[in-house]
Amino acid sequence: MDHFQYRDGVLHAEEVPLSQIAAAHGTPCYVYSRATLERHWRAFDTALGDHPHLICYAVKANSSLAVLNVLARLGSGFDIVSVGELERVLRAGGEASRVVFSGVGKRADEMRRALEVGIRCFNVESEAELARLNGVAGELGVEAPVSIRVNPDVDARTHPYISTGLKENKFGVDIRVAPALYRQAADMAHIRVVGVDCHIGSQLTGLSPFVDALKRVLELARTLEADGIGLDHLDLGGGLGIRYRDEEPPLPDAYARALFEGLADTRYEILLEPGRAIAGNAGVLLTRVEYLKHTEHKDFAVVDAAMNDLIRPALYGAWQEIVPVAPRLGESRTYDVVGPVCETGDFLGKERALVLAEDDLLAVRSAGAYGFTMSSNYNTRPRAAEVMVDGEQVHLVNRRESLEELMARETLLP
Ligand code: LLP
Repeated sequence: MDHFQYRDGVLHAEEVPLSQIAAAHGTPCYVYSRATLERHWRAFDTALGDHPHLICYAVKANSSLAVLNVLARLGSGFDIVSVGELERVLRAGGEASRVVFSGVGKRADEMRRALEVGIRCFNVESEAELARLNGVAGELGVEAPVSIRVNPDVDARTHPYISTGLKENKFGVDIRVAPALYRQAADMAHIRVVGVDCHIGSQLTGLSPFVDALKRVLELARTLEADGIGLDHLDLGGGLGIRYRDEEPPLPDAYARALFEGLADTRYEILLEPGRAIAGNAGVLLTRVEYLKHTEHKDFAVVDAAMNDLIRPALYGAWQEIVPVAPRLGESRTYDVVGPVCETGDFLGKERALVLAEDDLLAVRSAGAYGFTMSSNYNTRPRAAEVMVDGEQVHLVNRRESLEELMARETLLP
């Protein structure tokens, strides 16, 4: 459930008509709903009940300081993949002790900063990274808390670009060689083993890959315990899908029940790293129709948002719903909704039945995750504004980038 609903013929974010936001802040503009973000985070937190757990929101999905701040106030943990994301979490009021650090390419300076602020855990993805982390922690005279990210070789049955748990992926360590690497880790002077980590992919719409992965992770945990390597937590990653169109992904509650069944009576603390399921349907991309272009073959709606603002349709062929902010009566036409960027791949949606006129506002739904964070300046297009709605209040949380800012770091030759 989200808080984007039609009222009096106009799409609202909570109590605010999107037309009012477009008038005040212009388009393209990302609009987030605080109540939706909170609802989704709490759905995970409540689903895990009194089993020890920590929901570590995956910052990459939407790293707006305002979004992070809303979640930090709920007591959220965070899953980061760069020192940049770490600084965002800290600036937004998140606690370092609730941060886990994932990613295959952590630099020494990133490890150093994370150790200095005292993060909860490094999710280590290779033998070489483990050795480097041991070295960096040694220089600082501390112990680095570590989980090894294992690759359980399960098929997440999702888009190949966002499937990460197969043995041919670059992520994690083959679960069969993990016991040997854990032994090495346990013997290192500046490493403290605290858990096992796995993340098998994103936008998963079925439970069985999660359950299979958990089974394999639990087997590994038993092997490690038998070898005298104790664990505090299991981090099962993110990946729960959302409804973009007609998918029927399990809700956090059903997901948690499936996990508990697998966990049986083990009492490991459970960490989860949901990103999309929290932020995805908590945001829309608001855009305005510039031109309607009718050709012999097609009808195009040329809008003021483009692939630089929302790349998912172009990159993954992703389908996101596109709805009029104030629906008109009349006969619909079948439009390709395209942006101004000079690439045929620059579309937000294809073959959408819409009744449109120039200047109409459209909302691209499910744009709260992997929307703004994946945006770029391609075609020298300044990045969109971001707005957070909270009940009747509208907060501009990231003003539209100016051309001056866009070019500010560049210089001419002497
Ligand atoms: N943890 C790790 C280690 C991850 O790599 C990811 C996402 C997550 C958690 C969060 O997964 P989520 O709950 O959001 O599925 N740009 C793509 C999605 C890439 C996901 C990358 N990793 C898209 O727009 O569909």
